[in-house]
Amino acid sequence: MSLPKRVVLVGPMGAGKSTIGRMLAKELGYRFLDSDRIIEQRCGANIPWIFDVEGEDGFRQRETAMLDELSNEDGTVLATGGGAVMRPENHPLLKKDSMVIYLKTSIEQQVERTRKDRNRPLLQNDDPEAVLSNLFSVRDPLYSRLADIIMYTDRKSPRLVVRQLVNRLNPRTPRHKRQIRKEGRNHV
Ligand code: S3P
Repeated sequence: MSLPKRVVLVGPMGAGKSTIGRMLAKELGYRFLDSDRIIEQRCGANIPWIFDVEGEDGFRQRETAMLDELSNEDGTVLATGGGAVMRPENHPLLKKDSMVIYLKTSIEQQVERTRKDRNRPLLQNDDPEAVLSNLFSVRDPLYSRLADIIMYTDRKSPRLVVRQLVNRLNPRTPRHKRQIRKEGRNHV
């Protein structure tokens, strides 16, 4: 199996898309791209500011334009924002020449990993757990439908997740191939 041209990470806030993406890119010798960070650089402003001034809709427009542009970048691992799956027009942009990986994470872990964060406007309210839970019920089916691989990240270090992903993406040895057959096609 040859490596896909692009690897695209989807999943909720706090799934570890940026940390795992950066490490995975290094392992594969690919370039790491983080759609949110590039939007911020281009805009010269952070995401809370964009939400404040342009609203969520303004941010989503920038996100779609960014996903379109980055869909042409081969040899890359792309970390997307948690809401990238919400617009149907983004789906072909995420799937283009890529292997889509859903980093699946429990609500508990999402809450834990985003607790101190001030850069996620959707979570700056009294009950971020309820928000994460509502978002999960809407988005989990979308992540799952788009994904070529669903990777559970709970109770796994980023290093372990990356090792398992590398095995899935580039099963060079007979042992890796047997392991994949044993684990099933989609779920790790
Ligand atoms: C969002 C997730 C964020 C960022 C924005 C909106 C969402 O990205 O794009 O705050 O709708 O879930 P991360 O998933 O990297 O936190």
